[in-house]
Amino acid sequence: MTKQERYRTVLPQIAALVSGESDMIANMANVVAVLHQTFGFWWTGFYRVEGNELVLGPFQGPVACTRIPFGRGVCGTAWERAETVIVPDVHQFVGHIACSAASKSEIVVPVSRAGQVVAILDIDSEEYNTFDATDRQYLERIAEYLSR
Ligand code: SME
Repeated sequence: MTKQERYRTVLPQIAALVSGESDMIANMANVVAVLHQTFGFWWTGFYRVEGNELVLGPFQGPVACTRIPFGRGVCGTAWERAETVIVPDVHQFVGHIACSAASKSEIVVPVSRAGQVVAILDIDSEEYNTFDATDRQYLERIAEYLSR
């Protein structure tokens, strides 16, 4: 199966999972489970906006940093810009926060509600150049499901 086919398969599954549940944490937990199991990423998780920091939310993968300030790292940058950030090689991203030395590429997608970023979805890969426009397109769609 191609990446696109995989996303197309999981999209309705995720939509069904989150549409009947209003609790954000529960929905984040299930989204993470589906993505992590389907794609076998190194680390898949959410950080929630709490004041001027991101605080670790539901995730699968190794232990991660618990708090990230606004504008810091890939996650804080995606929050500040309120847009998706794709990093093909984390070693080339100035300010990258290395929660795990194994992580080589990364994508961070903001989740917004009423025009405000309320969380970010962060996915890390053990390989370089894992994420592209296809990931962005589908992960942004998934982030929209959580915005409702
Ligand atoms: N690398 C991220 C930190 C979070 S971990 O990857 C789980 C960053 O630079 O924001």
